[in-house]
Amino acid sequence: MEHTTSLTQFIIEEQRRIPGATGDFTSLLNDVLTSCKKIACAVNRGPLIGLQGSADTENVQGETQKKLDIITNDIMVQSLEWTGHLAGMASEEMEELLPIPEAYPKGKYLILFDPLDGSSNIDINVSVGTIFSILRAPEGCENPTLEDFLQPGTEQVCAGYTIYGPTTMMVFTSGHGVNGFTLDRNIGEFVLTHPNLTIPEDTEEFAINMSNQRFWEAPVKRYIDECLAGSEGPRGKDFNMRWVAAMVAEVHRILMRGGIFMYPMDEKMRARGLTGKLRLMYEANPMSFIVEQAGGASSTGRERIMEIAPQGLHQRVPVILGSKNEVERVVSYHAEA
Ligand code: F6P
Repeated sequence: MEHTTSLTQFIIEEQRRIPGATGDFTSLLNDVLTSCKKIACAVNRGPLIGLQGSADTENVQGETQKKLDIITNDIMVQSLEWTGHLAGMASEEMEELLPIPEAYPKGKYLILFDPLDGSSNIDINVSVGTIFSILRAPEGCENPTLEDFLQPGTEQVCAGYTIYGPTTMMVFTSGHGVNGFTLDRNIGEFVLTHPNLTIPEDTEEFAINMSNQRFWEAPVKRYIDECLAGSEGPRGKDFNMRWVAAMVAEVHRILMRGGIFMYPMDEKMRARGLTGKLRLMYEANPMSFIVEQAGGASSTGRERIMEIAPQGLHQRVPVILGSKNEVERVVSYHAEA
């Protein structure tokens, strides 16, 4: 039988390289991957067990929840609350942070997650994902406050996502590069299939929701206009476009073959009092950590996302991430404007 490295083996070996590591983080990551296996199962069997469609409820963002948004959130909470590795949790689907119930021991980490990113894709059988970000709780803290969660992205201990696509994959970083693992359903394990992922610095592929074009700010309009002008325009080359409408899938594609992903600020959002579309704490920060660790860049156009001092659990920010030279170009257009 061919020798493979499972995700569990990989993280135990990573732990051995860190002097004084207690194994808490390794166990926590193991618990996260177990919850993602359960979610993969629910997503996969969806229509067979009545899990498609709307739950007819709204989350804190005012978005209609899918049945699977609620179920996957419950899976994450139930799989992680008892483990003794966490001091608290926060989720896209929960307005307030969730303390660990009294019945369970408290740990030294905090986790934030989007249990089912891109859930509008569920009913059309297109890729969705889970995103997570792990932070350290303040020393000795058993009942974390909101302030304890509001750490900039640079403080993340680990960030990752699972993509439920043609295969289920988990990609994560703990600050030593980015590695990708594919779920082998025959053995029930994630297996290392994509070691040391890196994002090419240049790209000819962009991802943006073009239907918002008339609302964009000038620097983004300029960048996309130049891409669309192709080989006859100032860029002197033709560009391709993709839009999956699930950030997990866009970031995954960028890790596989490069590209730039943008959900920029626009006039429509401004008129609604929004500061962006994507959520800083459990979407933009973890994805920025992964992208930067793979050699890419991530910015709002005006500042590095991971350096933003968070103001709220569900804060929204503009996101421009991917191949370094393209992101830097968009940032320079913002500076010039
Ligand atoms: O969580 C927000 C999200 O689903 C992202 O995953 C995705 O990139 C974006 O929204 C899609 O937005 P739109 O509906 O505008 O295409």
